[in-house]
Parts: sequence; C-alpha cells; structure tokens
Amino acid sequence: MPKDEIFQETVTRVEKPSSHYTLLRDPNGHFLGATEDGFATFDYVDDKAIWDTDGETYRHVGTDRVVETESPRSKDGSYLRHGGKWIASDGSLSDTAALFTPGHGPAHMPSEYLKTFRENGWVCLPSIVPPDLLEELERTSGTGRWESGEFDRSIPPLLQTSAVAKIIAEPVTLWLMRQYMGVQDIRLGHSPGFAVLPKDDGKRNVQGWHSDFPYLWGIAGRTKDRIPVHQVEGFAMGVQRNLCVSEFRKENGATCFKLGSHAFGEGPPAEWGTGNANKEPGHREARGLPYTGPDADVVEAPPGSYIIYDSRTWHRAGVNRTPHKRAAMLQAVVPMYMMPFRDTSGPYKRFLHSPLIDELNELEKRELESTMVSRMLSPDGPLAITVDDELTERIRFPE
Ligand SMILES: [Fe+2]
Repeated sequence: MPKDEIFQETVTRVEKPSSHYTLLRDPNGHFLGATEDGFATFDYVDDKAIWDTDGETYRHVGTDRVVETESPRSKDGSYLRHGGKWIASDGSLSDTAALFTPGHGPAHMPSEYLKTFRENGWVCLPSIVPPDLLEELERTSGTGRWESGEFDRSIPPLLQTSAVAKIIAEPVTLWLMRQYMGVQDIRLGHSPGFAVLPKDDGKRNVQGWHSDFPYLWGIAGRTKDRIPVHQVEGFAMGVQRNLCVSEFRKENGATCFKLGSHAFGEGPPAEWGTGNANKEPGHREARGLPYTGPDADVVEAPPGSYIIYDSRTWHRAGVNRTPHKRAAMLQAVVPMYMMPFRDTSGPYKRFLHSPLIDELNELEKRELESTMVSRMLSPDGPLAITVDDELTERIRFPE
C-alpha cells in the first residue's frame, strides 16, 4: 500500500479543558455534596458532589448554594461555613467545623458524561487525572517529562507508586462504569498495566482489531472460551478504562477504534486484520498493517484523560510515528459476576503489605479492595477468592 494511503482514520479530537470543577473531600476521602434538602457527604461522585470556585468560596453547581471558607486556605483544606454555621464531617450544619480538602474535578458534569457514554458506547473525560498523579505515572512509565527513565517491568505498576491505586479509585469514572453496567459491584479484570508504545520501525507487528475482555471478539482461539458473539441492547458485561498518560494523537499511536461497533453484535471483520494473526512473526511484512482507513476512528485526547468504552468496541493500538514513547494505563473492568481475566488478589495483597497503602485515604482503600478482591458467600459470611497453589499444580500437571 503506498505510504499516503495509510493512516486515513477519522480523527475525533477532545480538547484540553480550560477549567475543571472542584471536588471537596473530608479526611476519609468522602465527597461533600448538596441536595435540595441540605449538605451531605457521599462515597461516590455524581452531579451532587460537583463544585465551582472563585478562589474564595465554593458554589454547588446543582443547587447554586455557596459555602464560605475559613481564610486563609491551606493545602490541608479549609473549614467551610454556610448561613453562619460550620459544615461538619457528615455534611450537616453544626457548631463544629470539619476540614475539607479541595481537589481536581471533572471538566463537565458527571451526568453529561453518562449521557454521552450511554448514547455512543464511549466517552472521554479530558485531563481528569490531577497533574501531580499524572507526572508520577510518567515517571513510573519512563515517558513524557521522564522519558530518559525506563519502565521497570519486573514489578506490577500498582506496587511502584500509590498513583496507580489513586487512579483506580478515580470517582467519576467509577460512577460512570457502575451506571453503564448497571451494578454497584465492579471488579478490575487485571491489575492495571502500562502500554508503552515506542516509535514504529516500519517492521514491527501492529496489534490487530479486537474487542476487549471479557468479550475478546476477534482474538482467535480465545473467543470460544469466552462470551459467544451476540447482540443485546442496554446490557454490557465489560467496560475498558484507559488512561492517556501521554497526550493521545494519531501520530503517536493513539488507540484506533470503530466507534459505535459495540452495538453491532459481532467481532471485527477478518479483512480488517484481527487479533492474534497480527502477532505471528513476519505478519506485517507479508500482509501489511491492519485496516487504517477512514471507516476507523482515532480519539485524540490531552494527557491525563480517561477514555472509557464498552468492551465490545472494535479497536487496536495505533502506530507511533513520533520519536517519543506514548504511554497509556489499561484497565478492563467487569461486573462482579464475571470472572476476572487475571488474579488481582495477589497484587492487592502485596499492596496491602507495602507502605504505599498509607498514602491512600479510607475511601480509596475501600474502592481498591472492592475492585480487586472477588467474593463468594458462605453461611459464615463472605469469602475472599484467591489462588490455591495445590489446585493450581493439579490443573497444570494432571496425573
Ligand atoms: Fe484492547
């Protein structure tokens, strides 16, 4: 194929927002919000927990209610006042003040993101990750401002920096995924991993078109063991949550999608170049790149953006035509009734016994546990599911 006929994907660009809303957290990490009835704290973020600030006061976007702060504000937070009363740690108006910490929030209202997600099967939350966490992920992945560094593949990213646990607990996307899949109880399909894409050398195989876990449509040899191809509306058994650590651009290998294909009820067509076929040695030399034409889409997004999409959506990694590495952090997320792809209990247990756990607030700790530990019921109470060495030995080496 002549060079100018490749990379013709249609670009959808999500711009860097000019401003972000604010989230106000109590010391346990719960979010201050408001309803028509008054203030309260919540363990999730929807529109109720969204604030605007002029630098002096906070305005609750949904109700227009304004709270004043004890001046001067410090980085440890502020005491908040409304109508001459302090706001207590449970959000009630009181004579006792509690400390609330302002933090980086979404650029748009959670309900707007949910509407887009439900309508289109994907949504991008531009620059949702706080700048300090983003730089920490660049450092750990050896990309961006830390490109001279190297990603240490021998240790799961979760155990290298608390920033990974914090982005797992990112509250707006957790809320969106719970709403989209219709269950409160959701799990990570695997411990989050970095996908670092170096400059293309013109020869290296390129990932083929596929749907993500748990569907894995288009990945030869795996489909029969997973979810049969089917069409169903309004019911999703998986959402992929990908964090753009680097800015995502067509030139640096941003993910290519067939947007809207989650609703097709089938995997990507073989002629587009699917899954494993593209992994075989020499495939690119013999068969060329997978489909890169205008019927495919590229979503461009600023660094720190979360792109979440219905796992059925056909996609593949892009081709990096810049000299700089492009990094993403990938997370397959499933309802509790799906078996995770990999064991998450092991990495979680190691995290629990590492000093990184102390860098999380109580809500982040709770979200990490609920998304990484699968449970079964017993008459005595819930049981945590984990790997059994003896039984693993049996299934690997049957007598
Ligand atoms: Fe994928």
